[in-house]
Amino acid sequence: MAIIGKDISQAKKLLSGGELVAIPTETVYGLAANALDPTAVTQIFAVKDRPTFDPLIVHVATIEQAQKFAASFPEKAMKLANHFWPGPLTLVLPKQAIIPDIVTSGLSTVGIRCPNHDLTRKLLADLPFPLAAPSANPFGYVSPTTAAHVNSQLGHKIKYILDGGPCRIGLESTIVGFENENAIIYRRGGISEEEISKIIGKVSYRLASSNPVAPGQLDSHYAPNKKFYLGDIDELKKEFIGKNVGILRFMNNSDSSVDHQLILSKSGNLEEAARNLFSSLRQLDQKIDIEIILAEPVPDSGIGKAINDRLRRAATN
Ligand code: TXA
Ligand code: MG
Repeated sequence: MAIIGKDISQAKKLLSGGELVAIPTETVYGLAANALDPTAVTQIFAVKDRPTFDPLIVHVATIEQAQKFAASFPEKAMKLANHFWPGPLTLVLPKQAIIPDIVTSGLSTVGIRCPNHDLTRKLLADLPFPLAAPSANPFGYVSPTTAAHVNSQLGHKIKYILDGGPCRIGLESTIVGFENENAIIYRRGGISEEEISKIIGKVSYRLASSNPVAPGQLDSHYAPNKKFYLGDIDELKKEFIGKNVGILRFMNNSDSSVDHQLILSKSGNLEEAARNLFSSLRQLDQKIDIEIILAEPVPDSGIGKAINDRLRRAATN
């Protein structure tokens, strides 16, 4: 298993030597490598079992650093960076040649983000290179929001996990790209469409297509191993009488007849629900006496849209 600790100099040493280190961010844990070293980055794909057509996000310490890796920075992108960085926002921008093709899967654009987590900010400020990092989970599975989550799935493949405690947001970053001056959300995440609109006006959302720009948009993603059904829980329970079900509810409910029930936010707070989503999914997925998982959508506003997006992609078709 990996060593779990808070030693930034150890993380720096490994990363400088071309090795992988799991790092905390405010969204989810990332599996990081020197973004300018194609050999190091190749290991990310191997460890995650991730297809190389799925590009990685490059993490930087500051806007100035981001400007070194982006060939241009549209005005709207700069406004968003100024307002939301460090934070759960990834900007897709034309890339500079210094970013290796393996990072961007051959695309002419690069996803860049300045994460908001003290330990990782210190690490990034201390490194002479940016970090390419996807979420630190096997491809297609639920993202990790604690060091223990990373260790349980990838601990045998990496040496060090920088432990920054549980992730504050709990959902991946919102990904925004720019096409003909228009801002487009490629993936919903920690910052809502409403918040983005307040800064730059109109923004649209691009649904997944057969050739997704952001494979985080693949229909089946963020998925537990058990069968997972999304809908009205009382209706679903009738369909699965006799099965041992695990239940994931949004908020408090008088129904106490179920043993394996988790509540995302007792008070109905969407931020709290986002924070608890992935760890709750994992918990239900790992309980051996649960056969299937039933969940209900959350209110479809603000970060609730990103939560519902993850729930839909987790669902068994
Ligand atoms: O919050 C996050 O974004 C986390 C933390 C670790 O920063 N990272 C994360 O990475 O969620 P990952 O690899 O699981 O998801 C990255 C998504 C992928 O779906 C990828 O396709 C998209 O970002 N992406 C990266 N570069 C892109 C580009 N040039 N154009 C479009 N999408 C891109
Ligand atoms: Mg991911």
